[in-house]
Amino acid sequence: MSDDAANLSSAVGCLRAAKNVVVFTGAGISAESGIPTFRDSDGLWQRFSPERFATWDGLLKTAVADPRLFADFLIAVLEPIAVAAPNAAHLAVAELERHIPVTVVTQNVDGLHQAAGSTTVHEVHGSIFEIVTLGGRFVRLLSRAEVREIVQKLREAKEAALALPKALRAIHSMLGPGGVSIHRPKIVLFGEAMAEPAWTLAQEAAEQCDCMLTVGTSATVMPAAMLPGIARSVGARVIDVSIEPGEADFPVTGPAASVLPALVRLAFG
Ligand code: OAD
Repeated sequence: MSDDAANLSSAVGCLRAAKNVVVFTGAGISAESGIPTFRDSDGLWQRFSPERFATWDGLLKTAVADPRLFADFLIAVLEPIAVAAPNAAHLAVAELERHIPVTVVTQNVDGLHQAAGSTTVHEVHGSIFEIVTLGGRFVRLLSRAEVREIVQKLREAKEAALALPKALRAIHSMLGPGGVSIHRPKIVLFGEAMAEPAWTLAQEAAEQCDCMLTVGTSATVMPAAMLPGIARSVGARVIDVSIEPGEADFPVTGPAASVLPALVRLAFG
């Protein structure tokens, strides 16, 4: 048996024997829904440097210095999410919970696990759809259609003479001064605290699982990247599904939208 076939067979055995599974996902699970990852060759951080775009300080400075570039970045982030639908990988994760208790922990902010039907989802880097005050108090949920409208207005702002005020108006339902305080999407930029209570619940889930399935993550961004280690420290086995061979007990290499449905079918089909 090849290593790949042996790992796939061990992964199937791990899922079948599991009493508590944590599925820990990153941008790769949404790649086949058309949402770019961060660190692949066509990734977001290849086109927009994290120094200028992944912190509030950098982002605000970019907005003032180059409003059209600011609008370009927001369009690059928001548009793929605004038009995305769950792919076969998200659906397979949702299907998994019909067979065993599953907690999904995701670094993604795209809401696609919930759209696929997963019921317990901890979004440790937050969600672009959840609008909160600067102090973290919930304000409202944006719909995917509202995000599409923001993208359309950002496109118009890019063409306008006064691009910055137009861009700021375009994103006002997501970010800007509100009735009581400034509101913003509940997303975690570099240097910010993890989204709560998601992060605390994610760590608890990792401590209680006996099988962790990591999918489409480079597992390089701390503290989220600690979760597989936490699972291993309590004796859980780790399966990794990625287009690149990952660090895991059972690495299964291939696109998530093909591998995950096959894995679930082989385990429970
Ligand atoms: P990365 O871009 O770092 O990693 C994506 C992983 O998915 C890579 O290992 C790819 O090989 C893999 N991949 C790509 N396409 C795939 C596919 N179709 N099927 C399976 N695997 C695929 O994304 P994350 O690990 O999610 O945080 O990045 C973690 C964090 O870094 C993000 O949440 C974000 C970013 O900076 C913040 O902004 C705080």
